[in-house]
Amino acid sequence: MHFDVLTIFPELIETFRSVGVLGRAVDKEIIGLEAHDLRDWADNKWRQLDDEPYGGGAGMVLQAPPVLTAVRELAARGEPPRTIVLGPRGRVLDQQLAEELAREDRVVLLCGRYEGFDERIFEILELEEISVGDYILGGGEVAAMALIEAVTRLVPGVVGDPESVAEDSFGCGLLDHPCYTRPSVVEEKCVPDVLRSGNHEAIRRWRLERAVEATVTKRPDIVKRSWERYPEEVRSLIRRFAPSLEPASEDE
Ligand SMILES: C[S@@+](CC[C@H](N)C(=O)[O-])C[C@H]1O[C@@H](n2cnc3c(N)ncnc32)[C@H](O)[C@@H]1O
Repeated sequence: MHFDVLTIFPELIETFRSVGVLGRAVDKEIIGLEAHDLRDWADNKWRQLDDEPYGGGAGMVLQAPPVLTAVRELAARGEPPRTIVLGPRGRVLDQQLAEELAREDRVVLLCGRYEGFDERIFEILELEEISVGDYILGGGEVAAMALIEAVTRLVPGVVGDPESVAEDSFGCGLLDHPCYTRPSVVEEKCVPDVLRSGNHEAIRRWRLERAVEATVTKRPDIVKRSWERYPEEVRSLIRRFAPSLEPASEDE
């Protein structure tokens, strides 16, 4: 899978691509990640891309022509990519969308700055917009990095142990269970006995119960969305912890 990121701060992406799990995936060529300086497409010697907004008001706006050229040039370098603008008006990134994006071969990510892009780029390029949440960032780079990290860890071979990805929060419609490591006692707080019992079935059941308990307590909205894909064991635990979250059956 290959990402091209268009940004006025490519150095942010350069650092990000060279560390940790993603850095190893880039080294092994499982993931391609290139940052491109949008200013390389500026049409003036000052490499300026922004201008004042028509109608007046605060802030500057990224001009359409250099962005149009940049996106088209990158698209022409390989297979037609899925081209995404990071922006607060878009579909909110969640695990389902990350899974969908992980099946793509090529993704171009366009990072805004200032007040954002001239609106015409959305109409001309028919761009898809993705948000990372209902708050405003200073630029699209942090959003792009969140998207890349969420998506790439779902690409086979990126995370060494695929089971750890499968067990992450959201993957199966549940938040993750609590984790503990040595030492066994921290400021008089002990690790739950079951985790040191060696009884694998008891440990599995305890973890599932804690995952269900955390989900019904902290994110009941996830339970409502995920009910259809829960196995019976999970449904019966939800009935035990929070019976009101079971969706009403259709013939009631
Ligand atoms: C300061 S913001 C522009 C905000 C814009 N004036 C508005 O109120 O919607 C600059 C850039 O940050 C990025 N950005 C800000 N918030 C974001 C979010 N929640 N998700 C994704 N990108 C975001 C976008 O690329 C945006 O063009």
